[in-house]
Amino acid sequence: MTAPLIDPFQRAISYLRVSVTDRCDFRCVYCMSENMQFLPKKELLSLEELDWISTVFVRLGVQKLRITGGEPLVRRDILKYFQGMSRHLDSGALRELTLTTNGSQLERFAADLVACGVKRVNISLDTLDEAKFAEITRWGRLPQVMRGIDAAQAAGLRVKINVVALKGFNEAELFDIVAWCADRDMDLTFIEVMPMGDLGNEDRLDQYWSLKDLRMRLGEQYQLTDLAERSGGPARYVRLEETGQKIGFITPLSHNFCESCNRVRLTCTGELYMCLGQEDMADLRAPMREHPGDDDVLEDAIRAAIRLKPKGHDFDYSRQKVDGQMTRHMSHTGG
Ligand code: GTP
Ligand code: 5AD
Ligand code: SF4
Repeated sequence: MTAPLIDPFQRAISYLRVSVTDRCDFRCVYCMSENMQFLPKKELLSLEELDWISTVFVRLGVQKLRITGGEPLVRRDILKYFQGMSRHLDSGALRELTLTTNGSQLERFAADLVACGVKRVNISLDTLDEAKFAEITRWGRLPQVMRGIDAAQAAGLRVKINVVALKGFNEAELFDIVAWCADRDMDLTFIEVMPMGDLGNEDRLDQYWSLKDLRMRLGEQYQLTDLAERSGGPARYVRLEETGQKIGFITPLSHNFCESCNRVRLTCTGELYMCLGQEDMADLRAPMREHPGDDDVLEDAIRAAIRLKPKGHDFDYSRQKVDGQMTRHMSHTGG
C-alpha cells in the first residue's frame, strides 16, 4: 500500500489542480494583465510529462483532477492528455476528471471531453451583459461563451457557473444570474475576489463584495437551506427552496476555509504550489528531467513538497487595506 499524502497539518491531499497552459484567449481584469509575457514552449511540461506526473499523483491518492490554465482548452492537443487521464477513471483510481474553463472553446470540445469521462465543467462567467462581459474579460465575447455553454449541456455535461462577486459590477445582476441558472438547470458558485497579480490601478477593496452580504441579499428573496454536500473544492452550498437550485459560496476573505484544504496546484512548467495564497513552491520539472521515468525520485520530490504545505493564505481586507497580496497572477496557477 502506498502511504497517502498528508501535510504537516494532518490534511490529506486528494485534489490536484493542473494548469496546462499559462495562455488564455481572454484577459479577465482580476486574473491577467493586458500585456502578459507567455512562457516559451521548452519551459512547458510536455503532454507526456503531464501524464506521468499526474499519474504519480493519482497513485499517491489524488482522486480529483481539475484541469485549469490560463484557458486549458487553448493548449494544443490537450485532448490527448484528457484521453490519457480517462484510464484512471476506468481503473477506479480517480473519482473525478474535470476542468475549469472560460467556455470559449467548448463548442469544439464538449463532446470529446464527455468521451474522456468528464461529467461536469465549471465555466467562468461574471455577467450576462455583453458590453460588461467584454469589459471584464477585455478580449472575450459573450455569444461565443453562450454557444459553448449550449454545447456543453447538449453533450450531457453538468455545468456550474463561476461568478466572481464584484461590487459595482455584477451586484445588480444577482437575481438575473440566479434565475438564468435556474432556467437552464445549472449550478452556480460565487467567489470572493482575491488579491492576486499586479493590481495596477485596480482597487480590490472597492471591488470586494463579501459573500456574507450577497447571501443575505439572496435570503431576502429566497429561502436558503445549508447543504452538507461537498464537491471536493472549497465551496459551501445552499439550496434555494423556491427553485431547488444549488448555489455555492467560495469565501477566502469573509470565511477562511484553509483548515479543510485538500489540494495542491501544478503549473504548466512543473512547479507545485502548495497554497494559492503563498509563495511556497517546489520545482518538480528538474527531478523529472534529470530522472526521466523514475517514479521513485518523483514521488520523493512530491512528498518533500507536501511536507512544506503552509497552513493557509493571508488574504485580508478587514483593516481597510489589502493584506496577503500575491504578485503572481491567478492564471499562473489556474486559481
Ligand atoms: P468544484 O469541484 O466544483 O468544487 O470546483 P472548485 O471550487 O474546486 O474549482 P474552481 O476551479 O471552480 O474554483 C473556483 C474558485 O475557487 C477559484 O477562484 C479558485 O481560485 C478558488 N479556489 C479553489 N481552491 C482554492 C483554495 O484552495 N484556496 C483559495 N483561496 N481559493 C480556492
Ligand atoms: N479572485 C477570485 N477568483 C478569481 N478567478 C480568477 N482570478 C480571480 C481572483 N483574483 C476565478 C476565475 C475562475 C476561477 C478559476 O478563478 O473566474 O472561475
Ligand atoms: Fe483566462 Fe480564466 Fe483568467 Fe479569465 S479568469 S483571463 S478566462 S484564465
